Amino acid sequence: TGAFTYDPGFTSTASCESELTFIDGGEGVLLHRGYPIEQLAEQSSFMEVAHLLLRGELPTADEYADFNNTITRHTMVHEQLRGFYQGFRRDAHPMAIMCGVVGALSAFYHDSTDINDPAQRMIASHRLVAKMPTIAAMAYKYSIGQPFVYPDNELSYTGNFLRMTFGVPAEEYEVNPAIEKAMDRIFILHADHEQNASTSTVRLAGSSGANPFACIAAGIACLWGPAHGGANEAALNMLKEIGHPDRIPEYIKRAKDKDDPFRLMGFGHRVYKNYDPRASVMQETVREVFDTLKVKDPVFEVALQLEEMALNDPYFIDKKLFPNVDFYSGIILSAIGFPTSMFTVLFALARTVGWVAQWNEMISDPGQRIGRPRQLYTGPAKRDFVPIDKR
Ligand code: CMC
Repeated sequence: TGAFTYDPGFTSTASCESELTFIDGGEGVLLHRGYPIEQLAEQSSFMEVAHLLLRGELPTADEYADFNNTITRHTMVHEQLRGFYQGFRRDAHPMAIMCGVVGALSAFYHDSTDINDPAQRMIASHRLVAKMPTIAAMAYKYSIGQPFVYPDNELSYTGNFLRMTFGVPAEEYEVNPAIEKAMDRIFILHADHEQNASTSTVRLAGSSGANPFACIAAGIACLWGPAHGGANEAALNMLKEIGHPDRIPEYIKRAKDKDDPFRLMGFGHRVYKNYDPRASVMQETVREVFDTLKVKDPVFEVALQLEEMALNDPYFIDKKLFPNVDFYSGIILSAIGFPTSMFTVLFALARTVGWVAQWNEMISDPGQRIGRPRQLYTGPAKRDFVPIDKR
């Protein structure tokens, strides 16, 4: 096998040291700088968690006010950036727009790209966290042909995002506090998750010293895939397709069939082999949102029964497959009014905090080197060139 350890999918390779997030996959534990995700989801806010990840501690009241003020200073995007949207087809997937527009930020902010200066790194990080809701809401507005709504810095991070997404200039938009709280919790649940594929992508891109906005665009590209952040969209589409509890066994059978590529979307995780603590909080949040909006969705019943049936099936038990964060999130987002194509965008919005925190941690790590994996070469041995007329 040559001189290198072969580890496809990096199941046993630690690529860095990190103080941000701890996961115990066997026990279903997720901690951010020591704080359990359940406590953060229940008692904290996304801005507090952003402060915790970026600055190292939960903020005091003064620190919170200062951080909030710093973020809101950056919520607007350059007017010229609006023009970028017009270049996309109206039916473009919003994740395609996100990759393009976030990457394009690199062309606007030359004052925050000296990555060796911690102050400049922080400015780039604040800009990214602050502008993501604006850019995401604009992607949605563009797709439905409504005017862009400017940020309102009097509102909370999440309240402002809801208003930019669902508000229209002709009417006052009242943020529903229960929906705002549920949405904020969804953001907390997605804020960071150690060295997942998109975060590793951001770190690898950043390890060459590349522009931070471009690195986050790379993370967005990776997150888009259905095995990663795209699973929330795929999970809801699957639940809708199943449509009725009677049809669940048919889908379970397909998921177990080796010759069928179909998988239960929103099921399984590389690290969690007991349960995904984020999925439990998410399931409770579905009930809260349904109570608030006084709605029922038959898809939730399908999801609950699918979970129960799978968890009692030897295939899923043996392979330790459980619902992950993406299984229930789509049901909530759909009840709030988001189209499925926006689900992964919301994941990207929240994960930006983790990405920039991880990127900062990497750049400030004295042991940091360019990421450069090796390979096991399996091609032909050395041979001599043959001119085209002799081949
Ligand atoms: N349905 C049916 N079988 C599954 C599933 C599933 N959802 N997930 C894994 N398996 C089987 C798989 O076929 C394999 O069987 P065998 O050992 O017989 O070949 C075994 O379980 C191990 O799967 P794997 O693909 O080797 O595991 P992995 O760690 O490489 O992949 C995963 C993890 C999350 C990509 C995978 O479980 C999956 O594709 N799940 C569905 C997509 C999904 O929900 N992704 C969201 C992940 S969580 C949050 C996020 O990143 O967005």
